[in-house]
Amino acid sequence: MSQIVPRDLDVDFAQVPRHWMARSPIATAITNGVNLLFPHGERFFVRSVNHFRDQIEDPALRTAIKGFFGQEGRHAHAHDEFNAILRTQGFEVDRFLGSYQRVSSWIEAHTSPALRLATTAAAEHFTAILAEGAFSQDVLDHAAPEMRALLAWHAAEEIEHKAVAFDVLQAIDPSYALRIAGLALATATLGGFWLWGAVTLLGQDLPAVRRELRGRRAGGRPGGLPARDPVIRRVFLRGIRQYLARDFHPRHNATETIAAAWMAARGMSLPGATTEAA
Ligand SMILES: [Fe+2]
Ligand SMILES: [Fe+2]
Repeated sequence: MSQIVPRDLDVDFAQVPRHWMARSPIATAITNGVNLLFPHGERFFVRSVNHFRDQIEDPALRTAIKGFFGQEGRHAHAHDEFNAILRTQGFEVDRFLGSYQRVSSWIEAHTSPALRLATTAAAEHFTAILAEGAFSQDVLDHAAPEMRALLAWHAAEEIEHKAVAFDVLQAIDPSYALRIAGLALATATLGGFWLWGAVTLLGQDLPAVRRELRGRRAGGRPGGLPARDPVIRRVFLRGIRQYLARDFHPRHNATETIAAAWMAARGMSLPGATTEAA
């Protein structure tokens, strides 16, 4: 098992422009839609795994869990800081965040610990595929530098810890039915909340969105983005198809070196590791 190393990201988001992804209001809103979900979602992942922490005896997996907690806690904190910038940019995000947290807390209160763990394992598979896409699709080249640093750091660590929740689930209850129930709930909640967040932000930026749509109809594409970035096909359909395989394991996707190669090609590197893990 590769080492899972928590690192502190030190980035000031104050100068991030309102349309930070390829100067596109639409691409920015779609990406901010999932950014809004991270703090509450990642703390849910930590709680779900932590419930079973004492039942894990494998020392390597126990160490990996500690690294996973350290990484997810820092991601949640960094995304909280960025989400605060959305408020200063004039977006009203608190109504959405309040509703999202109420609905997800209700789901958390009405599901078993095993299903919450299975949901976390599946959601981590989706985040690992998202992370892979951040590097393989070169979309981050079109992001404001602060956001490129945030999302490259986050994506690299998602790939590092992509198997932890899955391995905990296999150790606690390797039932295929439970794994697939978790996949169903993760797909519905991640897809539903992401769409809701993106639509909320698009609705608050309508004049800019309309301008972009008019430009696209005239044949323009914002900031060099690929013509289509099919998140539904690339993340959800591929993710579900892989996860349905009975012998699936997150490490079957050989993405371990993709972050380092991407960063090296751009003269970037990850922040140094912190000394305490959780
Ligand atoms: Fe994360
Ligand atoms: Fe994660």
